[in-house]
Amino acid sequence: MAELEIQLNDPQTLYRRWEDSQWNPFTVDLGRDQEQWAEMREGDRGLIYWVLSSLMVAEERITTKFSGLVGAHGSEEEASFLATQQVDEARHMQFYARFQDEVIADPATVAAHVERSRAQVSPAFRQIFDVELVSAHERLVANPDDLASKVRFVTLYHLILEGTLGLTTFRFVTDYLKEHRMLPGFVDGYSKIHHDETRHIGYGVWFLREAVKESPGVAPDSIREMLRTLLPSVAESLSPSSEPDGPDLDALGVSGEEIRDFALGGLTRRLEIVGVPLETVF
Ligand SMILES: [Fe+2]
Ligand SMILES: [Fe+2]
Repeated sequence: MAELEIQLNDPQTLYRRWEDSQWNPFTVDLGRDQEQWAEMREGDRGLIYWVLSSLMVAEERITTKFSGLVGAHGSEEEASFLATQQVDEARHMQFYARFQDEVIADPATVAAHVERSRAQVSPAFRQIFDVELVSAHERLVANPDDLASKVRFVTLYHLILEGTLGLTTFRFVTDYLKEHRMLPGFVDGYSKIHHDETRHIGYGVWFLREAVKESPGVAPDSIREMLRTLLPSVAESLSPSSEPDGPDLDALGVSGEEIRDFALGGLTRRLEIVGVPLETVF
């Protein structure tokens, strides 16, 4: 498994990368996935459906609770990059909706898919996406010039949602699908999404590191405060046993400990780069 390449590039460099990395969610080949879906055993189908539901709800939130950050840009270059991230998130949501339409064969609007997917996700997941993300976004919209609000939002969005939950889910789900040669179109689209996500996370780490350098009082405190609020829900939503009625995540063939180590390892490395080591949070 390739390591995440942390691109500590400035927003202009990331913008240029985006121009060179265009892809179309409607041209990913889903033909083999359609055949496989029809023949898949019930357990696998339940697992994939649950994963897809989480991704669908996450991308919907991530797409619709982002514009406040675009409005809080510090430079034209940063505004340009953030506008591309907003497009990327919409593209990701479109890919998952298309997969539901064409593979799960249940054509509906994006809203209907999100609505149905919501029934599948855990309370911890809802706490992060429906409560914490929504309130951090509202606070940023109301105070676009407030550094603490922007730092809190980027900590939540780029460091936790994308960098911790997103990368961890990608790693274990694609490992499983590749090992079992399942859903190659889904893996292809999800890998393209992952490539976009590494660019987004690169921005987040860059921004937080700059903020800590420029405001060594406010920025580290805001990062620590946000992490203390979120980490219990993050740990819970990454724990397979937190889903008594959910699908059998043990089927992925990885232990809760492996998942936690992977998630925590990445977060620890990124916080190190930002200049707020994890051990200083608690
Ligand atoms: Fe995304
Ligand atoms: Fe993203």
